[in-house]
Amino acid sequence: MDLADLYRDVIVDHNRKPRNFRPMPDADRQAEGFNPLCGDRLTIYVKLKDDVISDVSFQGSGCAISVASASLLTESVKGRSVADAERLFETMHAMLTRDDADVDVASLGKLGALSGVRAFPARVKCASLCWHTLDAALHRQTEPVRTE
Ligand code: FES
Repeated sequence: MDLADLYRDVIVDHNRKPRNFRPMPDADRQAEGFNPLCGDRLTIYVKLKDDVISDVSFQGSGCAISVASASLLTESVKGRSVADAERLFETMHAMLTRDDADVDVASLGKLGALSGVRAFPARVKCASLCWHTLDAALHRQTEPVRTE
């Protein structure tokens, strides 16, 4: 199995069985993201303990890429400090949007599965929606995030 197959399997798996796909009534932070290109929406919920993301979940509807990206996000930021999660957001944003980004994809583990999305401009917003929404939740932004 080559890397492309592995990455595709990760996306398919996280779309079919999204991790942490649930509401969080006692969330400390939450934000809504909206992709006007397709009308898809998702909400990210965050629970904090001493500046560490102790729990994170999401709900909403979207394409396979957006659901897989949000699922991978929840797995990746749980247990990280807010500052660390913000750094990961910056890294993911660079990987998804900049051809010249100096990102060590191998160090990102399963998140590297989203690296191929950059080659499909129409799908970049699908993958980045949840990351912008997480950033908004951590910054207590109350307006829904739009991807454009
Ligand atoms: Fe709507 Fe991907 S098509 S988020």
